[in-house]
Amino acid sequence: MTQQDHGVATASGHLVPESLRKRAREIVSGLTLEEKATLTVGHDFWTTEPVERLGVPPIWLADGPTGVRRAQTSDGIGIGDSIPATCFPTASALASSWDVALAREVGAAIGAEAQAQGVQVVLGPGVNLKRSPLAGRNFEYMAEDPVLAGEMAAAFIQGLQEQGVGASLKHFAANEQETGRMYVDSIVDERTLREVYLRAFEIAVRTAHPWTLMCAYNQLNGAFCAEHRTLLCDILRDEWGFEGIVVSDWNAVNDRAAGIAAGLHLQMPHGATVPSVIAAVEQGDLDEARLDEVVAEVLAIVLLADSSRQPDTTFDVDAHHALARRAAAESIVLLKNDGNLLPLEPAPGATVALIGGFAREPRYQGSGSSQVVPTRVDTLLEELPQALGSSVTVRFAEGYGPEGAADLALLAEARDIAAGADVAVVVVGLPGSLETEGRDRAHIDLPQSHYDLVTAVLAAQPNTVVVLVNGSAVALPWAIDVQAIVEAWLGGQAAGGAIADVLTGAVNPCGKLSETFPVRLEDTPSFLSFPTMGDGTVRFAEGVFTGHRWYDAREIAPRFPFGHGLSYTAFTYDGLGIDTDELVTEGTVSINVMVENTGDRAGKEVVQVYVGECAPKLPRPRRELKAFSKVALEPGQAKVLQFTLGWRDFAYYDARAGAWAMEPGEYEIAIGASAADIRLSAREVLTSTHQAPVTIDRLTPLNVALKHPVASSYLQPMIDAMRERTGGGEGFEMLMLFMGDSPLRKFVIMGALPEEALVEIIAASASRPSHS
Ligand code: BGC
Repeated sequence: MTQQDHGVATASGHLVPESLRKRAREIVSGLTLEEKATLTVGHDFWTTEPVERLGVPPIWLADGPTGVRRAQTSDGIGIGDSIPATCFPTASALASSWDVALAREVGAAIGAEAQAQGVQVVLGPGVNLKRSPLAGRNFEYMAEDPVLAGEMAAAFIQGLQEQGVGASLKHFAANEQETGRMYVDSIVDERTLREVYLRAFEIAVRTAHPWTLMCAYNQLNGAFCAEHRTLLCDILRDEWGFEGIVVSDWNAVNDRAAGIAAGLHLQMPHGATVPSVIAAVEQGDLDEARLDEVVAEVLAIVLLADSSRQPDTTFDVDAHHALARRAAAESIVLLKNDGNLLPLEPAPGATVALIGGFAREPRYQGSGSSQVVPTRVDTLLEELPQALGSSVTVRFAEGYGPEGAADLALLAEARDIAAGADVAVVVVGLPGSLETEGRDRAHIDLPQSHYDLVTAVLAAQPNTVVVLVNGSAVALPWAIDVQAIVEAWLGGQAAGGAIADVLTGAVNPCGKLSETFPVRLEDTPSFLSFPTMGDGTVRFAEGVFTGHRWYDAREIAPRFPFGHGLSYTAFTYDGLGIDTDELVTEGTVSINVMVENTGDRAGKEVVQVYVGECAPKLPRPRRELKAFSKVALEPGQAKVLQFTLGWRDFAYYDARAGAWAMEPGEYEIAIGASAADIRLSAREVLTSTHQAPVTIDRLTPLNVALKHPVASSYLQPMIDAMRERTGGGEGFEMLMLFMGDSPLRKFVIMGALPEEALVEIIAASASRPSHS
C-alpha cells in the first residue's frame, strides 16, 4: 500500500481497497451471530474486539487531537498518566494560523507518534463551532466559522492519514456546548444546520475522507445522534459519500440495535449491549443483513488500519518539539501594537519586567480527554531571557496566585518591578478550571486578580505588553489603554519559546483570530439561548447569523473581529480581478488579487475571501467566508493570489426543497485582512443553473406562482380581468398589493379562479418545475 493509499482514497477512488472489503465480507460470512454483535462493541476502553480464529486483530483508538494520549493499558482512561507525546498547539490555536500546510504537517507528526505508540486511530480533529465563547471545549475546536474549521480539519486529517493512522472527525453533530452534553436536545433549523454546523463536517469528509467519524452525545432535533439515521446514513453516507465507520463518543450509545440500523458502526468503549443486538436480530427487530453490512464495514476499517501499521516507527522528539514551537508561533495573533512597541528590541543594559505566574508555570493545553502528557515543556521565563540575550536583564514577578487567586503582596512586587524596568510583559489568562471538557464557562472574564495586575502594571509602566493565554475569547476591558496585546492561546508544550520568538521578532506574527473577541458577553450571537432553555433543549436561535456573520448583521463592533491579526510589516492589496464567465455552465468564479509586503521585514499575510448576495430573498449574512490563503512575502515582494469559487460558495440551503440553491443576481466578492477590514470588493452579476425550484400548491402566493411560466400563463387572464374591473391605475395596483400575497386557493374561494383551473395549474407546474 502506498502512502497515498492511507491518505485520501485508493486508486479506485475508495477509502478501503476492494481486496480488503472483500476479505471483510468473507470474514463476516464465517461469523456467528454472537461474534457479529460482539464486533459492533469495543473490547475494552480503547481497543476493538478481535476474532482470533479468523485472524482479525484489535485496533487501538486514542485521543487526540492535540497530541497522542495513549493510556498505559487499554482498559484504563489514562488521563494524566498516558505515554508521553508531543503536545501540539490546541485546535483553536492551530486554526488561528490559517495555514493548511501547517495543519497537515502537525497531523502527520501526530500520525507518526501514533504509529510509534501502536495507535491506529486518533480521536480528532473536532469541528464543532464556537457558537458561544462560553463553551468549555472551545480550545479543542477549530473556529467559529465552518469554512475555516472544515479546511483546517481536512488538512489535519490528510496529514494524519498519510501516516497510515485514521482520524475520527468529531463530534457529529450540533455538540456546541458542555452543559447537558449527555442529553441536551439541540434544536437547529435545517438551513442553519446545513449552512453552518454540518458544513464544517461536510468539507472535511468530502476533502479528506476520514477513516472514522465520532457521533456526539447529544440529541439533534429530537433524536440522539448515536441513533440518528438522517445524520449517519442519509446525510453522511448517501449525500457526502462517507466510506469510513461511525464510532460512538465514549458511552454515547442509548439503544445499540437502533444505532446499528441507523448507521452507528462501533460502540465505544466496551459495554453490555451485545445481548440486546442478538435479541433484536432474533426477534426480527434488526435485519441480520443490516448487521452484516455494518460488521463488514467495521472489519474493512480494522483491516485497513492493521495493514497500515508501521511498528518500527520512531520519532524525533526534538524535531517534533521544534515543529510544535513553529506551529505555536504561527498561531499567535498580534491583536494590537500601538507605537510599534513590539518587537522588543531593548538596548544593551535594559531591563524587561516579565510578570505573571503563567510565564513560570505555563498553561498550554485544555483539560479533559485531550490532555496529553508532554515530552517536555518550555516556559517563557526560561525562553525570553535566552531570546533577548545576556545584555538584557529580565526580572520576573509572579503577580497573582495559583488558579487566579488574588495576592496583594505579589501584586505590589509586580508593580515595583514594572516601574523599575524599561518595558513590561504581563502574562494573564484563564486558569485550567475555566477551560475544560464537561463544563461551560459562566462568563468571559479573566480572574479579577489578572485584570487588577494589568491595571497596576500599566499605571507603573506605560510600555506594557499583555500576553494572553486562553483557549477562547475573553473580555479585555483595558484593551484601549494597553499598547500591545498578544493572543498566545493554549499553544502546546513549546508555547513558551514561541511566545519569546514573537515578542522578540525572531518570528513575525502571522496568525489571525479564528473567533471574534466581543466587547461584552451580551454582544455575542447566542447570548439569549446559550447554554439551555431550561427544558433540556438548546435552541440555536441566532440561526445562520453566528460568529462574524452576527456582528456584521447587527453592526456590533467587536473588540477584535474574526480574521484579525497584525504583523511587524504591512501589506497592501491591489488589482482585484474576477472572471465569472464560466459560472453559466456549472463552472467557477476565478478571483485574482495582488498582495504586497510594503514594510521592511519578511512576513506572512492571511488573505480572506468573503461573499454576500446583494439582495437576497431570504435573510442571509452580509458576508460569509469562502476561501483564504496564507502567503509569505519578503520586503517589497508582491504576489498574485488566485482563488476559485464554485456555485456552492454562493448557495444557501433551501429547506423546503431539501437542496442547495443559488439565485442568479448580484453578489459582492470582498477581499479582507479580517471580517471587518475589507480591502477590496467588487459586485458581480452571476447567472445560476441552481435556482430554487418553484413548486406550486394551493398555498402558493399569487406573486410567487406568477414567476412560474406555466402557472403564469393560466393566471394572467385572471389578472387581466381584475385590471379591467378596476380600470387599471392606482386601484389596480392597490388590489395587486393585497392579492399578490394571497394563496392561490383564496382566488377559488373568491370566485376569481375556477377550482378546475387551480388543479390544472398545480398538475401542469409539477410536470414542468421552474425556478424563481
Ligand atoms: C470525549 C471525546 C473523547 C472520548 C474518549 C469523550 O468524553 O467527548 O472527545 O474522544 O471521550 O476519551
